[in-house]
Amino acid sequence: MKNYHVLKKQYQSDIELLNNKLDEVIKKRIYHFAKSNSEYTSNLISIYHRSPEYITTPLFTWDTLNELEIIRNIRTAGFEIHHVNLFIQLADKLAELHIDDGADPRHVSINLPLRGCKGSNVLWIRPDQFTSGVLGVNGLDALITNSKPRTIGSKPSDLSVLRDSTTWDIVDSVSANQAIILKTDTWHAVDNRGNLDHRCVFAIRLVKNPGFEETINKLEPTDYETNS
Ligand SMILES: [Fe+2]
Repeated sequence: MKNYHVLKKQYQSDIELLNNKLDEVIKKRIYHFAKSNSEYTSNLISIYHRSPEYITTPLFTWDTLNELEIIRNIRTAGFEIHHVNLFIQLADKLAELHIDDGADPRHVSINLPLRGCKGSNVLWIRPDQFTSGVLGVNGLDALITNSKPRTIGSKPSDLSVLRDSTTWDIVDSVSANQAIILKTDTWHAVDNRGNLDHRCVFAIRLVKNPGFEETINKLEPTDYETNS
């Protein structure tokens, strides 16, 4: 099963622009995040298409977003930006297994590696290794992950496997150090173990929650080479 698509365009100038624009906020957030010693990814910036005035940092606005080639290409492909996130994961940490929330579930994330991604990987486990669902449905026990209840088994003790990679049946992995479309509607985790750097990624989410294949086909159709 295909879980990622490495973009043919790697958007180096966008990555540079974002790194420059967000340098101060990234450093500040990493400092505070490291002090808290949190194991997990932190969402630093959100800009929602429904509330364009809602911006968590004045350093980043819709104007900045509009400067990015990747944003222009996403719009040309017929998609609208739902929101963007700046994710940081501390060096040498493994994040928990999860399914992306926000669109129940959200099918894809389009990611740009800003810094510290060289030793970072995204892992997927066998999609049916655990059951996902909502609290109270089918008598399943629930786990709060990404702020919403999801289940991964029939016993509360099973929930520890989300953080215990030795139980995971890993079927796929990819380096996070590239512009990439990720399939986020099945169990996955970010593995920053062995990475001496804090991983910083810019993630773009789309309105109408398009599927993985649809996103790839529209953003980088097979005739891409001849059209560019
Ligand atoms: Fe995710």
